[in-house]
Amino acid sequence: MKKSLFIGILILLAACAQNNSADIEKRVNDTLAQMTLDEKIAVIHAQSKFSSPGIPRLGIPELWCDDGPHGVRPETLWDEWASARQTNDSCTAYPSLTCLAATWNRDLSRLYGRSVGEEARYRKKNVLLGPGVNIARTPLCGRNFEYMGEDPYLAGQMAVPYVQGLQSNGVAACVKHYAVNNQEEGRLKLNANVDDRALYEIYLPAFKAAIQEGGAWSIMSSYNRYQDKFASHNPRLLKEILKGEWAWDGAVISDWGAVHDTDGAAEGGLDLEFGTHTNGVDKNTANAYDAYYMAQAYKEKILSGELPMEDLDDKVRRVLRLHFRTAANEHQGSMNSPEHWADCRKIGTEGIVLLRNEGILPMKAGARKIVVLGENAIRPMVVGGSSSSLKAQHEISPLEGIRAAFPEAEVVYERAYYSGEPTPGKGYNYSLYDITEERSSEQLLEDALDALDGADYVVFIGGLNKNKKQDCEGNDRESYELPYGQNEVIENLAAVRPDLIYVNISGSPVAMPFVEKVGAIIQAWYLGSETGNALADVLTGKVNPSGKLPVTFPVALEDGPVKTERQYPGIIDEEGDWQVYYDEGIYVGYRWYDTQGIPVLFPFGHGLSYTSFEYGQAQAPGTMKDRITVSVTVKNTGEVAGAEIVQLYIQDVEASVDRPAKELKGFEKVWLEPGETKPVHFTIGRDALSYFDAEKHEWVAEKGTFKALIGASSADIRSEVSFELK
Ligand code: BGC
Repeated sequence: MKKSLFIGILILLAACAQNNSADIEKRVNDTLAQMTLDEKIAVIHAQSKFSSPGIPRLGIPELWCDDGPHGVRPETLWDEWASARQTNDSCTAYPSLTCLAATWNRDLSRLYGRSVGEEARYRKKNVLLGPGVNIARTPLCGRNFEYMGEDPYLAGQMAVPYVQGLQSNGVAACVKHYAVNNQEEGRLKLNANVDDRALYEIYLPAFKAAIQEGGAWSIMSSYNRYQDKFASHNPRLLKEILKGEWAWDGAVISDWGAVHDTDGAAEGGLDLEFGTHTNGVDKNTANAYDAYYMAQAYKEKILSGELPMEDLDDKVRRVLRLHFRTAANEHQGSMNSPEHWADCRKIGTEGIVLLRNEGILPMKAGARKIVVLGENAIRPMVVGGSSSSLKAQHEISPLEGIRAAFPEAEVVYERAYYSGEPTPGKGYNYSLYDITEERSSEQLLEDALDALDGADYVVFIGGLNKNKKQDCEGNDRESYELPYGQNEVIENLAAVRPDLIYVNISGSPVAMPFVEKVGAIIQAWYLGSETGNALADVLTGKVNPSGKLPVTFPVALEDGPVKTERQYPGIIDEEGDWQVYYDEGIYVGYRWYDTQGIPVLFPFGHGLSYTSFEYGQAQAPGTMKDRITVSVTVKNTGEVAGAEIVQLYIQDVEASVDRPAKELKGFEKVWLEPGETKPVHFTIGRDALSYFDAEKHEWVAEKGTFKALIGASSADIRSEVSFELK
């Protein structure tokens, strides 16, 4: 193509994009000019559990939201959390977001967003409530499975394509939960005390990336408080940072029931109120929604002049933008298509992490007897966990997946332990499944041991589940240990079969005191509709594992940076307020373990393959001005094709302030045939070398020596090169 023609096309495309947003702005202004005060008030608060009204007179339809983030939640009643008992709202359940993060594959994240967005579109949703990008500060957080791990760069890099893929369907992302909502215990009232450096370096970057690079159209303000103000009433978070520093023009939607008074919501920067006492009876009004803080009470304050019309107009503008951005598209969407199941399986297989392998895996095709143990081999995992609970059109259990992969083998199942009656959180039940158990725990273990005889393989599938106080919204886990006596069961089984394959299903790290006693360990997260197939693909080697951990697995909870009660779960102060102190500052996850030199169970970025990779010598010019390219070669030195996630960490060798031993600033996933070598290049700017100077309120890259560390994990640095920042 001729250069001038190419430039012409670029100008045209840019003009179209401009027109598009200029068109939207024009429609927003035209519509706003015609709206009455009542209409303005109507569009900034809910009219049902998940919808807000449009302006029928002006042809603007209702706005519908739904959870999020792993699939499209089944319909609830108009005013209640309870199921609407529809029969056409089953969906594809996608892997949990920790699994997506573990793929370290930006293209898969885009695919995920696009695929789930097609389902949301089909179900006529304008907004899908996700992705979640809160940082995993403690392994105990009940919602870690809905987030993307402990590293702000990785979470941001994975959130951006999810948002773009989702929004390509005309469905808005609602990035949640903004901000510093890093535990469930006390989430409705706690005040997070976090210093600016940690806020800017750790807790905000993934939100910023989703907004600025991903172009997210909405964000969800969290339940907790920060600087003594609820996040939904928080001028610092919403006005100063989000709408000020980040110059964002989208809409802030409150978490469900996160608004507490009219002035706070009106003046704090919230745009759309959801979930406030919607049961229709606890306020004695004809329409309970009129009693929302941003409803009649707000209208009265506008009429009396107590609150300014400009602020209301700004909220209405943002909400109108959300309407026009999402309503005006031609996509029809699709549900439960074979393509979506394939997406789900692909993301699942790439997110599974092989943690340990003493030559046991992959399982050989000729196996005659396979013993599958553990409750998680049969337990449905798509239901539960609270708001992210889904009604899947199908869910293939690990046991079914293994049976299908070994049609010739005798596959024997024993439960080995029992978690009791499922408690997946209010409003969700397992009525469709019977997973009850009569046997005692002693009997379950005995039966499991009896089953081992003559087995070619023993696969134990355990971990957490989505019961309350496991991986479930509303509470945190009470312990870092595996629940339901699993450690003891595994130790007993491994004493007989040291080649036992342990498959851990969880959204968070767990302690594994048996680590050295078993033959292989797989981290399988929650994999959604295609769980069993994805798991079997990896167990059999049909897919060579290529996932890596987006979180550190410490040996013990006490090894971590969050140690004291004031750090977690927090303390009640003299005024009776719940205060949580982020005393560890920026030392979250590997930033803590690596800087302190504390050995871990499995490091951040760790993940094995059925092949092996050799790294060349990292190369970079000796000096950097604004940008620098670090290069390295990677070779597949094994027998099978595979993918390696090459990680770039930066170390500030001469710093005037405290800095972590290393910080992730780049990664690439490289596919290699046996014997193949490929170069990998990382180009980084000064931002990758900077820390946040809270006093000056700016990012600072100090001149001096830096090291680029190229690793297969944060603890497995294969090559390094130094350079000077001029
Ligand atoms: C959760 C949100 C969710 C909302 C709607 C809240 O309790 O914190 O993540 O999107 O409910 O279900």
